[in-house]
Parts: sequence; C-alpha cells; structure tokens
Amino acid sequence: MMKLDVLPVAGKIHVARLMDTTAIVVDVLRATTCMVIGIQNGINKIIPTSDAAEAASFVTRLGSRDSLLAGETGGIKTQGFDIGNSPFEFSEEAVKGRTVIMSTTNGTTAVCAAASADNVLIGAMVNATAVAKRTVELGKDAVIICAGTDGAISADDMIAAGAIAEEICKNAADVTCTDTVTICRWLYKAYMEKRVDIHEINHCKKLLALGFEKDVKLCFTRDTTDIVPTYSYGIIQ
Ligand code: MLT
Repeated sequence: MMKLDVLPVAGKIHVARLMDTTAIVVDVLRATTCMVIGIQNGINKIIPTSDAAEAASFVTRLGSRDSLLAGETGGIKTQGFDIGNSPFEFSEEAVKGRTVIMSTTNGTTAVCAAASADNVLIGAMVNATAVAKRTVELGKDAVIICAGTDGAISADDMIAAGAIAEEICKNAADVTCTDTVTICRWLYKAYMEKRVDIHEINHCKKLLALGFEKDVKLCFTRDTTDIVPTYSYGIIQ
C-alpha cells in the first residue's frame, strides 16, 4: 500500500520526513514548469540554487561558455542573468546543450529542500500524468511538495498537486491519502469544473500584471510532455 501526502508549502523540510519516499516538487507558476520545458528542449543539466549570489558563484566556477544563468527576482529576470523564469525563455535555441544555473524566489529553494528524499521528481501541469506514472513505478510512499510563495500557500501549486495526486490514485493499486491530498483533489476538481478561477490566485494576478499571460496559460496546460526531470546530487536532468 502506498501513502500519499502533500506539503502545501516547502519551507524547511526535516530529513526524516522524506526518508524512503519519492518527492515531487511543484512550482507550477513557473519554476518547475520551466525546468520541465527546459529539459525537454535539450538542457544538459540544471543546477538549482537557493539565491542569486550562489547562482552567480557557480558561473564563476564553471565558466560562462556553456553555462547560462536563469531566474527571477519579483517575477522579472534577475539583473545580470541571461534569461528570466518564463518557459518561453527556455526555448531549444536558448538552452540546448547548456548547463543552466537557476535561482528563483521559491521554486529552486523547494527543489533543494527535497534533497533527502530517495527520488526527487520535478512536477508541473505540463507533465502531470507522466510524473504521476513515474511515481507509481518507483513503488515508494510519495510526498508532493508545493513550493508556495514566500512561505505561504499558493493555490496554483495545490491545484497542480491535485492533478498529480488524481493520476497517482488512478494508476496505483492501493493508495492512502492524507486530508491535504483530498483538499488538493477537491481543488483540482473544482478547477476542472470551472468553479474556481485561477485569475484570483495572488501569484497569478502578479504575473498577469507583469504581462505574463501566455506563461500562465502554458503553465496550466496539462500533459504536453512525458519528460520527468529528476534531482540528484545537486543536479536536475
Ligand atoms: C518562484 O520560484 O517563486 C516562481 O517561479 C516565481 C515566478 O513566477 O517567476
């Protein structure tokens, strides 16, 4: 029997919490969506970092020839970085064959915080079914970790967690869900039935105000890829 849980906000995760589990990290708007799209478009590897200074220090060590600095501050490309945190900037032309060092406000930190899990998978709406199937194949208890926003719940991540949880429950023989999973599944169902409007979500409002309407649309499109990036020894591939 598989146990499934959702952490609504990543924060600091105790090592023991993720022992012998598969963790699925979700920052649907937009970091984990960018990671999935970037790996699909041929990124060699992504190094997620917890802040811009750490990201910049990696470039100093690796050299700037094959590496690319990606990420945002307040939603906008961080000053001095090569690209921001829009999935449209993770095009094949921009990222193929490159090592991308990435720093975003919540998403990259959440990936780093999941390091103690046995397997760390990168999840989003664009790969919801694929990440769920991979989780079931791995045969361990699973925890979906929502990045959240600045230490608080972000409903976009909980909707995506619900989509992934729904698929896990469809594909696994026997799953026990916590109530947090059930809440995410309810939320996803309400979203699918158009009873909730994602435009009311604060992070969504912020991105729309910055002109990222196309990003929001892409980030909420289901199953455009089977790519399931994994995070291991500091690297997403
Ligand atoms: C984050 O990591 O906080 C987000 O991905 C921010 C964003 O939408 O760019």
